[in-house]
Amino acid sequence: MPEGHAAIHAEWQRDPEAYWARAAHAIDWSTPPQAIFDPSQGPYGRWFPDARLNLCFNALDRHVAGGRGSQVALYWDSPVSGQKSRLTYAGLLDRTARLAGALAARGVQKGDRVVIYMPMVPEAVIAMLACARLGAVHSVVFGGFAAAELAARIADATPKAVIAASCGLEPGRVVPYKPLLDAALGLSPHRPDFCLILRRDAAPGELLPGRDEDLLEAMAAATPHPCVDVAATDPLYILYTSGTTGKPKGILRDTGGYAVALAHSMPLLYGLAPGDVCWTASDVGWVVGHSYIVYAPLLAGCSSVVYEGKPVGTPDAGAFWRVCAEYGVKTLFTAPTALRAIKKEDPEGKLLASYDLSTLEALFLAGERCDPDTALWAERLLGGRPVIDHWWQTETGWCITGNFRGAGLFPMRAGSGGKPAPGYDVQALGDDGKPVPPGQTGSLAIRLPLPPGCAPSLFRADDRFRQAYLEAFPGFYNTGDAGMIDAEGYVWVMSRTDDIINTAGHRLSTGALEEVLASHPDIAECAVIGIRDALKGQVPMGLVVLKSGANPDPAKLEAELVALVRERVGPVAAFKRASIVQRLPKTRSGKILRATLRKLADGESYTVPPTIDDPLILDEISEILAKV
Ligand code: COA
Ligand code: AMP
Repeated sequence: MPEGHAAIHAEWQRDPEAYWARAAHAIDWSTPPQAIFDPSQGPYGRWFPDARLNLCFNALDRHVAGGRGSQVALYWDSPVSGQKSRLTYAGLLDRTARLAGALAARGVQKGDRVVIYMPMVPEAVIAMLACARLGAVHSVVFGGFAAAELAARIADATPKAVIAASCGLEPGRVVPYKPLLDAALGLSPHRPDFCLILRRDAAPGELLPGRDEDLLEAMAAATPHPCVDVAATDPLYILYTSGTTGKPKGILRDTGGYAVALAHSMPLLYGLAPGDVCWTASDVGWVVGHSYIVYAPLLAGCSSVVYEGKPVGTPDAGAFWRVCAEYGVKTLFTAPTALRAIKKEDPEGKLLASYDLSTLEALFLAGERCDPDTALWAERLLGGRPVIDHWWQTETGWCITGNFRGAGLFPMRAGSGGKPAPGYDVQALGDDGKPVPPGQTGSLAIRLPLPPGCAPSLFRADDRFRQAYLEAFPGFYNTGDAGMIDAEGYVWVMSRTDDIINTAGHRLSTGALEEVLASHPDIAECAVIGIRDALKGQVPMGLVVLKSGANPDPAKLEAELVALVRERVGPVAAFKRASIVQRLPKTRSGKILRATLRKLADGESYTVPPTIDDPLILDEISEILAKV
């Protein structure tokens, strides 16, 4: 590996295909790639178009065959259930092959979709790997989503099977998943052939005869299934994420490009080698969980920690340090919001002092912009260990920018997401599509093609992919983020250019929330904006206009709207506020002035748009926001 970020990036830029051909050696292929990239396939091209492999083989079988069978693959640590366990590579392979056998015996084949609706339990990882073993396409749905969101994903993915847990555990509260699944299957026009249910003691749920079976019993009775060979371009998973409308986008992930990118990233970005322990304190429902709880650690022969708990309250703000010490974690990866939660409860890091963190080498952050205060606080707390913010999207599957332990770190700048990873030519573009000068804000875009690992398209929606990402700046992928690149090449991601907000590292569509609010009988129209929140970064707030004649009590209306969002989208939306306004700011042609609303919410200065129909409405909204 060449030394230094500049050398690595220059090596990639000199000959991108040769770079990725070399990186591909980290993977065991059944048919190694001859062609590296085919620009004629899909919306912008496909990586490794003639290669074949199985990802589960690369994550498990080859390590067991290579002598790693007795090494721990997964540590499960669940303070919310009071349980802990560990699975070796051999044990994980056995369970995965059995679940693959159970799925195959019930008709699941290569290309079929399987929806997984589970909390942070080892069976979630086993379910993902079992799908990969069969060449089936998994779609994991985060447990904090409500039945209607699950139903929308089931309707789009049309899965042959659903694998679910009977419940999730939140601090002090059991979340029964099974009734949510039953409700979702009632709402969805598509029904799977069968459901396998992990029955947890806290709320085992009722099995519906003829449709539901006990997951563990099915696995115990199954014959282990071998790996099914797939094309590198075959889909590994679909992960739904918020778009700007209520309809979630099915981000597609291919198999070969993803395997190469993840395997390459483990030594280069994270500085991890086989046998190392890494912990990504996220959730398998998010892209970070797919990539760095499950696939990358296992591809690299590492041990991965699966944590079912919170940064605070399970039982205290020392939980992260306890887990790092207990398992000998070398790199911790989490969202800035988790650090802010710890900082709030234990600002001086008193709880950290009682743990031996001698194995911990670096902290990685992603999911939202890390405010410099939090980054510097973490660096101080961790005695100067590198705190590396890296910029990500569900679409990219791995980081766009970061810092590269394997190549030698460059100095961090708190508030910046670092410099582009190999494969990414990042530009800040003006509205005319031309790069803006260093230090000036523009739309952050990536010159095509995107590197291996990034979404080749949306599930069954090439046109939506082109329209959402490729049309704004021809020749570029539009990230939807705004920011600047400084004279030394550091990328600073500052905000979104669309109507997506980021709440505690979770991506929410204001459009989806507006659809829910608009369904209330008293609401004529509404806008949802993200307002600053010291813990979660942003939280959504509704501005609602009443139908003429409606005269609800404002507090009661707010409570009803909060309950409606919780029921339709889920508690994870953290929707707690709605205010009645006389009117929304609009242009004379009737378009809501969203950019102005965003600025108002962020407390930024704004110029009253000349097209606005009634400038006074901005004063009314400013007054409401000032009181929040
Ligand atoms: N299943 C069911 N409900 C869930 C859930 C799940 N998997 N995850 C969260 N929820 C619920 C919570 O119980 C909470 O419900 P409440 O409104 O009844 O209290 C709500 O959704 C909001 O949850 P959360 O965002 O976790 O907020 P919190 O106030 O409980 O905790 C933090 C705050 C900062 C501790 C928490 O947001 C956190 O750990 N964030 C890290 C996020 C992260 O890892 N993101 C991944 C991106 S890399
Ligand atoms: P998601 O697809 O849910 O991972 O959300 C991706 C979005 O989160 C990005 O488009 C950014 O807006 C934001 N984001 C993720 N990581 C970072 C980061 N390190 N710095 C700034 N914003 C980030």
